[in-house]
Amino acid sequence: MHRFSDKVVFISGGAKGQGAVEAKMFGSENAKVIIGDILDDSGKALEKELNSLGINCTYLHLDVTNESEWEAAYAQALSKYSGLDILINNAGIVSRASITETSLDEWEKVLSVNATGSFLGTKLGVPIMKDLGGGSIVNISSTGGLVSSPTLGAAYASSKAAMHLLTKTTALQYANDNIRCNSVHPGPIDTDMLSEITNNSDLLKKYQEKIPLGRLGRPEEVAHAVLFLASDEASFITGTELIIDGGMLAQ
Ligand SMILES: NC(=O)c1ccc[n+]([C@@H]2O[C@H](COP(=O)([O-])OP(=O)(O)OC[C@H]3O[C@@H](n4cnc5c(N)ncnc54)[C@H](O)[C@@H]3O)[C@@H](O)[C@H]2O)c1
Repeated sequence: MHRFSDKVVFISGGAKGQGAVEAKMFGSENAKVIIGDILDDSGKALEKELNSLGINCTYLHLDVTNESEWEAAYAQALSKYSGLDILINNAGIVSRASITETSLDEWEKVLSVNATGSFLGTKLGVPIMKDLGGGSIVNISSTGGLVSSPTLGAAYASSKAAMHLLTKTTALQYANDNIRCNSVHPGPIDTDMLSEITNNSDLLKKYQEKIPLGRLGRPEEVAHAVLFLASDEASFITGTELIIDGGMLAQ
């Protein structure tokens, strides 16, 4: 018996990186997977690849900052799969600028994708889940949403901290509707996003030195935690956070 037979999973920002790995892992456990992203070519290529593996996967164009695009994406998901059991708010962008270096435009852009995008996915997803008897939401925050450092981008940290409390608020407001909501907080994970911020090897080395396990995390290692929190195995877990950082925040 597969863990996600008959479940419909929506993953924002799933065209590449961690979201793409999650799409494949959910699909391998028989979930019907919908990916929403702005990277249409990568998203369509992933849809094709997963379909060729026998995974029921659909790619949809979705800019998470746009409420009407969320409405259209959920409408398509419902018409194709008649359900929404699991939402993974994964789409994200990064900025490393300090507070004084952050322009208002950059602040608004980062908050808009990471925090507002997750808010919209939740706001429009919850009523659908309610109608269908419940669901599970996993928000991909960051260790940077729990603790700061002098080099952590101001807008990024603030957006990820917003996702942390959005998670707890969602959990409390919709527990009676059988909707669970949890957050994961990855440390440095080996994806394009990390290459973007560690564009010099000294910085990458510094990151690795801070990690007790002595290496970067792999997207699969986050995905395993996401699948667990989304699954019925986590049926009594809501409003909590799971840190996946090789021990970095234990220090
Ligand atoms: N890589 C890390 O070290 C790390 C650490 C902690 C948290 N995270 C978080 O994990 C999540 C996944 O990131 P990743 O590491 O896979 O990076 P990534 O850059 O490979 O993936 C991010 C995805 O989000 C999509 N996206 C960006 N803006 C979007 C928008 N407006 N609408 C829809 N999709 C959009 C991108 O197109 C991309 O597919 C992000 O929320 C990120 O903040 C990453």
